[in-house]
Amino acid sequence: MVDNPNGPLLAVQSVSKSFGGVQALSDITFDVDPGMVMGLIGPNGAGKTTLFNVVTGAYPADTGDIIFEGIRVPGRKIHQVVGLGVARTFQNVELFESMTVLENVMVGRHIRTRSGFWGAMTRLPGVLREEKEIRDRSLDLLSFVGLQDEAHRQSGDLPFGWQRLLEIARALASDPKLLLLDEPAAGLNAVETGQLGELLERIRDLGVTLMLVEHDMSLTMKVSDRIVVLDQGRMLAQGTPREVQSDEAVMAAYLGGGHASN
Ligand SMILES: Nc1ncnc2c1ncn2[C@@H]1O[C@H](COP(=O)(O)OP(=O)(O)OP(=O)(O)O)[C@@H](O)[C@H]1O
Ligand SMILES: [Mg+2]
Repeated sequence: MVDNPNGPLLAVQSVSKSFGGVQALSDITFDVDPGMVMGLIGPNGAGKTTLFNVVTGAYPADTGDIIFEGIRVPGRKIHQVVGLGVARTFQNVELFESMTVLENVMVGRHIRTRSGFWGAMTRLPGVLREEKEIRDRSLDLLSFVGLQDEAHRQSGDLPFGWQRLLEIARALASDPKLLLLDEPAAGLNAVETGQLGELLERIRDLGVTLMLVEHDMSLTMKVSDRIVVLDQGRMLAQGTPREVQSDEAVMAAYLGGGHASN
């Protein structure tokens, strides 16, 4: 990977978060450099989705800091964090099911534009021109993920694997610098998972930095430059795929069926 003289894209600094008595995240610290694919793995309940929720401003951290391009994230609203250049997909696909495929992507784009979603409902000439740009860009993104022939279908009618691709297109529509993907391969068959791996590489080639939460280990090990391993809210290990695969605490957490003690 190239050296990064300008600092990390994302810095997660000593972040902790609890829900009642559950310590979902405990003193988590790591950096994500621009251009990389950072895998985030760990058993069920490890805190992976919680970390995404804290990074995107959906939940406040109890303590610690999140710095994106030198800017503090805590205290910002979700749409402001999107405006900084952070987009995500959801573990349980969250689309506007009654809207068409194209409309879902256009909604993702509107957050970036002058007139915004409600402005688009008015009919001023500048707005109409902007609307055409949004539509063209959204169609391009549908082609990018392979859904160009489904643009006018209702999104809730799409097969599940295609809904996951649509969520990725919608996230890309906000022109993110950092894209957080929460189990994008869950529910996909082997062929679809292979295609997803290629898509992730094409997204990285666009210059978008990726964080990938995924239980499919062969996909994660293949596409990730580095991996952070969480277990019961704690950071168990971080390193290259090769390093974490041979880490004893990681093997104990995964293979022991229980949890590592150190
Ligand atoms: N909104 C919430 N309210 C209460 N508890 C929560 C909430 N979100 C997460 N938790 C708890 O925090 C812990 C971490 O959950 P999280 O969803 O982050 O795990 P995960 O690593 O994403 O797991 P999985 O692989 O199953 O998706 C769990 O014990 C979970 O029950
Ligand atoms: Mg999760």
